[in-house]
Amino acid sequence: MKIVSIAGARPQFIKCAPVSRELRKSHQEILVHTGQHYDPEMSDIFFDELSIPKPDYHLGVGSGSHGKQTGECLVGIEEVLEKERPSLVLVYGDTNSTLAGGLAAAKLHIPVAHVEAGLRSYDRRMPEEVNRVLVDHVSDLLFCPTETAVNNLLVEGITKGVYLTGDVMADALLHNREIAEARSGILGKYSLTRGQFLVLTVHRPSNTDNREHMESIIGATGKCGKTTLFPVHPRTRKYLKLFGLWDRLPRNIIACEPLGYLDMLAAMGSAEKILTDSGGVQKEAYLLSVPCITLRENTEWVETVSAGWNVLTGSDRAMIQKMIWDFTPPSDHPDLFGVGASVRIAELISRLCR
Ligand code: UD1
Ligand code: UDP
Repeated sequence: MKIVSIAGARPQFIKCAPVSRELRKSHQEILVHTGQHYDPEMSDIFFDELSIPKPDYHLGVGSGSHGKQTGECLVGIEEVLEKERPSLVLVYGDTNSTLAGGLAAAKLHIPVAHVEAGLRSYDRRMPEEVNRVLVDHVSDLLFCPTETAVNNLLVEGITKGVYLTGDVMADALLHNREIAEARSGILGKYSLTRGQFLVLTVHRPSNTDNREHMESIIGATGKCGKTTLFPVHPRTRKYLKLFGLWDRLPRNIIACEPLGYLDMLAAMGSAEKILTDSGGVQKEAYLLSVPCITLRENTEWVETVSAGWNVLTGSDRAMIQKMIWDFTPPSDHPDLFGVGASVRIAELISRLCR
């Protein structure tokens, strides 16, 4: 069967790696890179490190407003689908590339499969939440990472084509964790001592584009004095410069370029705590058994909070500081994300599609 997979942003490359490996055992996969992310450290490095096949199409869409970026992805993907006429279009996560892929396929009456279906933050101010809801409603196969996701869909009346598969990022992490430990030199490069540093990532517009939020997050992390590795997303770098914060980052914060996946895994796995507003990083913190402080008011990964390994602080300076010092997870660490999601997804596709 011919399947077109759509990826365009950093977390999608990571999600697509294990699924693509499984799919290609029995199907023809055509990979489309929309070009939403394009810096080598936001794109190429993941293809190299994770041995993701070279994209068959690169749409070169790049950055822009939501309308422009989504629209250009839509036009480009539609052209590819008209030419390739696949039996299925596979989309991942919740980015503008995901929305465009789902919409283009649905309008051409090509079945859509959504990996990471059913997630909800119930915050429609997040662009991702709009993308998730819309894509789920045009999808024929909805591969849910958690039971919460299945229930979220049920509440919206979506029951057909819904499968609880587990989480594909867990597969990526399991596959690469030991490789990362063996190959990464990140601790040595930044003189980091295992268990004695923090990892910080920030890229949500609700934080990055807001001076007060950024001052608060940087202020709280700076004040704690703990060595903090801060791989900076290009969007974040742009706003830190705009707000005049880039040149006066506290001395304990080591700002660096975005990391490759192996260095990121190695750094997170050795960290004392992780501070983040990323969806994927919250999940990985849990999988690596590292306490996570989430710099948001809400999360889609509610299980990590209920399990006591993740705490929501928003951008509240005092709360972040308190959690850096005091947050201690319980000894219990239940399996929340399963293993083998990619195999299950490939099997379901083989069984259900033709
Ligand atoms: C996007 C996704 C978000 C996801 C994140 C993963 C949407 C709406 N957002 O957010 O869900 O969590 O990717 O990282 O789809 N830029 C560069 N080089 C790049 C890419 C981006 O400089 O390679 C800069 C540009 O200034 C751009 C800004 O980052 O305007 C934002 O990029 P964009 O892809 O629009 O959104 P993200 O914030 O990365
Ligand atoms: N990641 C990475 N290098 C970094 C920051 C993140 O490899 O410098 C990985 C991270 O380990 C996770 C994924 O990128 O696998 C998460 O992507 P991101 O935070 O950009 O987006 P989100 O998950 O919030 O959509």
